Amino acid sequence: MAPPYAASPYVLSLLLLLSIPAVFLLAPRLIPPRTLPTIPDAHETEDLALFRRAVLLSAAPSSSSPSFFRRAHQPKVAFLFLTNSDLVFAPLWEKFFAGHAGLFNLYVHAAPAADLALPATPSFRGRRIPGKATARASATLISAARRLLATALLDDPDNHFFALLSQSCVPLHSFPTLYRTLTAGGRRRRRSFIEILDDEPTLHDRYYARGDDVMLPEVPFDRFRVGSQFFVLARKHAVMVVRDRRLWNKFKLPCLVRSKESCYPEEHYFPTLLDMQDPEGCTKFTLTRVNWTGMVDGHPHTYQPGEVSGDLIKELRKSNGTYSHMFARKFAPECLGPLMKIADSVILKD
Ligand SMILES: *[C@@H]1O[C@H](CO)[C@@H](O)[C@H](O)[C@H]1NC(C)=O
Ligand SMILES: *[C@@H]1O[C@H](CO)[C@@H](O)[C@H](O)[C@H]1NC(C)=O
Repeated sequence: MAPPYAASPYVLSLLLLLSIPAVFLLAPRLIPPRTLPTIPDAHETEDLALFRRAVLLSAAPSSSSPSFFRRAHQPKVAFLFLTNSDLVFAPLWEKFFAGHAGLFNLYVHAAPAADLALPATPSFRGRRIPGKATARASATLISAARRLLATALLDDPDNHFFALLSQSCVPLHSFPTLYRTLTAGGRRRRRSFIEILDDEPTLHDRYYARGDDVMLPEVPFDRFRVGSQFFVLARKHAVMVVRDRRLWNKFKLPCLVRSKESCYPEEHYFPTLLDMQDPEGCTKFTLTRVNWTGMVDGHPHTYQPGEVSGDLIKELRKSNGTYSHMFARKFAPECLGPLMKIADSVILKD
């Protein structure tokens, strides 16, 4: 006679068979969807310390030189270069900066491992700040921009405008024209030049790139904005960005692997934050012209040497806004020669 438990293997197999559909039904709920890499905690901690110092020092007038006694300095423009390759256009920028010492500062953020030679030209020498690795489709580009802003806030209280640029950006006007445009509002009405759009067709997919409802309650969909990654911020807005923890806690969340194509956090964080906190203080358009016609893999058109001409510069300056464009991207490194040829006769001539 068979022992009573002899039937159990059959019961077990039956149970296993029955459970297969259950696994398929439940798995998507039990296993979280795969995400792109997150920002390392150590980087977060270091950044936080830097941002805190920047906010503290920007909030209180420095005790060694109370603002009451300080000579009214000319406001300076901080040029923030966010780069992952050589700054090949440095000679053109040197021409742009020449003769305007005292009205600008320059800061370069590059990944520590990036084997790039900082230009040995006078304005760029020694201006590299401690950087960390950046990658597309992650919030690391936001972190790098905030690191640049914080460093520039701390470095010089006379930095009143903060222009974020990349290695493929070039100037379209002279320094005095840029300076006049930025300071036109006067001391009381310093505005930021940042694109802020709310009606782009990609907005929905980009909002849900980190998963359903994860942006709530801080960022409801109808407050989510998009704009150019490159901007010029007024000092009060630079402080606002460096002080923010609330929105950053949402925007730093990694995108889901399946949403990689919709993952451009750096195009959303700054416009969303500033539109929430001070919409009137922003022009809502960028001074940096970019050509999205014929976009490839999320990259705009890259101008080649054969396309560079005085007419191109004049065309790129044109804008639908009140102000003409001051910078343009992207230019291939080989454009340096042709750009230098028209620097004095077109680019820096107004
Ligand atoms: C924009 O790029 C396209 C090629 O993708 C080019 O044909 C067009 O001339 C460019 N527009 C301007 C204003 O440079
Ligand atoms: C100006 O607006 C028109 C129409 O919306 C658009 O086609 C054109 O590209 C815009 N030009 C610039 C320089 O933004």
